[in-house]
Amino acid sequence: MVSYIEAKDLVKVYRLGEVEVQALRGLSIKIEQGEMVSIVGPSGSGKTTLLNIIGGLTGATAGQTWVAGREITNASAAQLGMMRQKVVGHIFQTLNLIPTLTAYENVELPMLAVNTPAVERKKRVTELLETVGLGLRMNHKPDELSGGEKQRVAIASALANDPPILICDEPTGDLDTDTGAMIIEFLHKVNKEMGKTIIIVTHDPAQARQTDRIYRIMDGRIISVQKPSESEEANAAMRAQMYKDRLVETKTELADLNTMFREQRISPENFAERYQNLTQTKQFLERELHRMGF
Ligand SMILES: Nc1ncnc2c1ncn2[C@@H]1O[C@H](COP(=O)(O)OP(=O)(O)OP(=O)(O)O)[C@@H](O)[C@H]1O
Ligand SMILES: [Mg+2]
Repeated sequence: MVSYIEAKDLVKVYRLGEVEVQALRGLSIKIEQGEMVSIVGPSGSGKTTLLNIIGGLTGATAGQTWVAGREITNASAAQLGMMRQKVVGHIFQTLNLIPTLTAYENVELPMLAVNTPAVERKKRVTELLETVGLGLRMNHKPDELSGGEKQRVAIASALANDPPILICDEPTGDLDTDTGAMIIEFLHKVNKEMGKTIIIVTHDPAQARQTDRIYRIMDGRIISVQKPSESEEANAAMRAQMYKDRLVETKTELADLNTMFREQRISPENFAERYQNLTQTKQFLERELHRMGF
């Protein structure tokens, strides 16, 4: 059975002129309804790309995606637009608040897009801004708000149309530790009390440990899944096995890549990029396995 949110063998290739970037290389992930999960991984590993596919902003080059139990792999632009308005609330890595609009208007905007009646809009914007603690900042524009406050407006705006799913791309990236912790605490509340399914990308291990599951991405693939609630030993054993499997795959891919290069089936640029990524992955896995005593 398909999970509430599921991606299967996702590949994403970005083309910039002659150069190809493989952002996702066969990534699979399953998330159940009501879960709050985190995605961690180095810069450039494909986290934002994955969220953008789940959020219906960009299509995958190959693979399948289901969101809220529905397959969106071949969805039309109109269907994806509807999904962005009603099903998925998206908090972007670079907050996408409109600078000329006040906090109130920024939260109201998604409701205007779906023709919510004026009375209901007013009630909901006010409620949402009060819930995120910004009842006294409604008429401030983004420039007149602190980083944490802006982040809270973005969350309120993402929740405006009451979507069942919230995806958050580094929602605490630019914030100090305390403010970041407050935002995370709030997201936990949204998860528990409003029952939203939440995916959060974070670089903070402490934040990741507070979620139901931690997915680690490297080089466009999930390399481990960890349940923080399980014992450390069980987690370590599971992770070690995944690292070992991935190491075998990486070595095979490196060998294949060398063959392709020798046979001139790949451009030098692509070879160099791929070689560097794979070597980095291999070194990371070897280092981690060594650290774990293997
Ligand atoms: N629109 C695009 N066009 C071309 N290449 C892109 C595009 N968006 C991302 N990439 C490339 O795809 C890879 C994955 O990028 P992505 O933004 O998903 O990484 P990330 O894991 O979110 O990184 P960060 O932690 O820095 O936000 C990177 O190598 C990036 O340069
Ligand atoms: Mg990113």
